[in-house]
Amino acid sequence: MPIQAISWSPSGAVRIIDQRALPEAEITRDLDSAEAVADAIKQLQVRGAPLIGIAAAMGLVAGTRDLRSAPRREFLDRVAQLSELLANSRPTAVNLRWALHRMANVAQATRGDGAALWERLHVEATAIWEEDRAMCRRIGEYGLTLLGDGANVLTHCNTGALATGGIGTALAPIYLAHEQGRRVHVYVDETRPLLQGSRLTAWELQHAGIPCTVITDAAAGALMRQAKVDLVLIGADRICANGDFANKIGTYGLAVLARHHGVPFYCAAPWSTVDSALPDGDLIPIEQRAAAEVVTLAGRPTAPEGIDVLNPAFDVTPARYVTAFVTDRGIMQPPFSEGEGGREK
Ligand code: MRU
Repeated sequence: MPIQAISWSPSGAVRIIDQRALPEAEITRDLDSAEAVADAIKQLQVRGAPLIGIAAAMGLVAGTRDLRSAPRREFLDRVAQLSELLANSRPTAVNLRWALHRMANVAQATRGDGAALWERLHVEATAIWEEDRAMCRRIGEYGLTLLGDGANVLTHCNTGALATGGIGTALAPIYLAHEQGRRVHVYVDETRPLLQGSRLTAWELQHAGIPCTVITDAAAGALMRQAKVDLVLIGADRICANGDFANKIGTYGLAVLARHHGVPFYCAAPWSTVDSALPDGDLIPIEQRAAAEVVTLAGRPTAPEGIDVLNPAFDVTPARYVTAFVTDRGIMQPPFSEGEGGREK
């Protein structure tokens, strides 16, 4: 059974796996308001660029459920207010704003009062989720062409079923390779400071029976020097028109290492991660997170009290380091524009 990171609960709440608790415990939570969903996104109970877009869309539905008998104006005002709240829960992944825009647009375009508008939002949020599942599969199919039999893939953070509505982005080709009986092995960067690699990626790959090895982030260079890595496959939180992209902190370092060692470096993402309105990566807002994430481990201090800390959650990798982008529209090269959608490689 594939992992389902998000779904509707029987009562219409947003059901999530609380990713903070993994791999120690599998805890499911039902979130019945937009506020609860926004909090879950901030706290990384739900995370990963595509998944927070889906969660925000579903959160808008949960948050407007009680307004089904409200007049149109009141319903739309509430949609605007809750969209703002959800959009501000995390700044870097563009999927969040993309999904909320899509929801606001369909609400505006639908005739009628609260009941009709709410039904339409419910349909749209479910469509966003289902489309993401299909996009993951297509990314997997395109990405599969890059994996030779027995490939050793290095990945960073978590880009799998726990980060999307389907089988993931950068992990999708790996799932499909395994499904088809091809040999594949994954080096999983543990991904400091919140360990999405060792806690989440290793957990879901092990769940699927896919061979993997957890490494410290600092080990990646040594493995490349020993020619143990055939390719790097990572995700993205926002891809600009020129191909610069933001992803989990540490991605840029990996890209530079890969270039130095002649290792192909691929970025996999659905089209909802492309922000063709943003010309280059310097313009991407980078989330800064709490110092405690860096200077405590399992509740114990790992640095002297009162020390200065910098904790950017993402970095920007310039397009020139990327061998190619694996998207649901094909294997592409920038520039990306909404109409043309990049160059086929
Ligand atoms: O802070 P996170 O865990 O939400 O960061 C997630 C990542 O950086 C992923 O690599 C990215 O969202 C792509 S997920 C398919």
